[in-house]
Amino acid sequence: MKNLILCASATAIAVALSASAARADTAGCDDGETVIKFSHVVADSGHPKGDAARLLAKNINEQMDGKACMEVYPNSTLYDDDKVMEAMLLGDVQLAAPSLSKFEAYTKQLRLYDLPFLFASLDAANSYMASDDAKELLSSLEDEGYQGLGYIASGLKQFSANKPLIQPEDAEGLKFRVQTSDVAVAMIEALEASAQKLAFKEVYGALQTGVVDGQENSWCNIYTQKFFEVQDGITETNHQLLAYGVITSQEFLESMDDETREQFVTIVNDTLKQANQEVADKEGECRQSILDAGAKIRELSPEQRQAWVRVMKPVWEQFEGDIGAEVIERAAATGQSN
Ligand code: LMR
Repeated sequence: MKNLILCASATAIAVALSASAARADTAGCDDGETVIKFSHVVADSGHPKGDAARLLAKNINEQMDGKACMEVYPNSTLYDDDKVMEAMLLGDVQLAAPSLSKFEAYTKQLRLYDLPFLFASLDAANSYMASDDAKELLSSLEDEGYQGLGYIASGLKQFSANKPLIQPEDAEGLKFRVQTSDVAVAMIEALEASAQKLAFKEVYGALQTGVVDGQENSWCNIYTQKFFEVQDGITETNHQLLAYGVITSQEFLESMDDETREQFVTIVNDTLKQANQEVADKEGECRQSILDAGAKIRELSPEQRQAWVRVMKPVWEQFEGDIGAEVIERAAATGQSN
């Protein structure tokens, strides 16, 4: 395969394509090449994960030409994050990078990453995700047949709603969309608000029709999914990390000969390192694009932000048993440094 294979565009039309039509669009793998399908749910470009997936496809297709060929399926065109896990064990997809909030059915240890206010900055989160502890956490997926290959950082999360949010009390009684994460549910309930778990592709419609009042996500998700269009404004809370676990199946890895596997894993590692260095800039650009589109971003004073910390941070205790007190302590030490 020679060209970057991107199996569907970010347009609404592409979202409507069936998976098989999307495949037919750009099928370009040569006979004998191992096909590596990477399915994800976000925009195909202008987003930390979409861009990382494209870069990985470029690197694999250039460096493993004749041996392997990667196809990227963005925007939930192939699977959403729940289905992709099953599809991977069936061998229908070889790479995915669900948000770390979405692994609860497979391991409770990754709940660490959802603890509110664990990471003071994206830099601190990146330092932690490069640590041995973080590698160990990903390995908790191995009992389920998956292999964690690394992390993609995406950004810190911001709240938005159909009314201004300045104090935590402003969220009382509202309904927020959350990912499939019990930590996120607990965090929202600490605000005396209610949480509804919804797939990513349903969020815009749910905000638009009032099924939910608000949501929390990174700048690039808020921008590329246009959530800002159907919200009163966004409050810069930086309250939680959004990052992804890049996973494959053990069966897929074992199907490669040693040399090919080593080459594949090395390319993935090198690409993720490069992609993660660009995330902070991309998030800044998405934030600016939201402002340029005329949406309101509300910054909090240190005292106002501290009020959100006081209300949400106590949920850590509820999940200490799943994650481990020492793991939390060490992550918090790195998370609050830099
Ligand atoms: C979400 O569901 O909000 C995120 O997991 C989407 C993503 O992959 O960034």
